[in-house]
Amino acid sequence: LSSIRVDVSGIDPGTQLTVKWLGKPVFIRRRTEAEVAAANGVEMEALPDPIARNANIAGDAPATDPNRSLVPPGGEAGTDSEWLVMMGVCTHLGCVPLGDAGDFGGWFCPCHGSHYDTAGRIRKGPAPENLPVPVAEFVDETTIKLG
Ligand code: FES
Repeated sequence: LSSIRVDVSGIDPGTQLTVKWLGKPVFIRRRTEAEVAAANGVEMEALPDPIARNANIAGDAPATDPNRSLVPPGGEAGTDSEWLVMMGVCTHLGCVPLGDAGDFGGWFCPCHGSHYDTAGRIRKGPAPENLPVPVAEFVDETTIKLG
């Protein structure tokens, strides 16, 4: 009932699509290799919020990049993926963060200055948690189902 399917075939590496789902923006980003590498290069100790916040895995899973990204068809769970799907709602007071912005090359929330990295993890500013990853899966090569 509340699930939607999104065609992601037109999303090039380094760009993202914002769709509306359940009245909220959802960011679907196809990351570049450099963005994935940057996210993987971060020590867990550097993360203000060390929890993955991914509705598809265990609630206490750590915020590693593979635990935040979405595995493409044929991919293996727990491995690197260029695909990142998250709610576009700042965990501070709910503004919509801007993409390709901020000190960590990810997203920046202009309302009160929260910086998210290329895995959507909070790195600096007042937001307490990483941008949440909703229930999502690839249903074929070019379609992501939300919900
Ligand atoms: Fe994003 Fe306050 S709502 S920093």
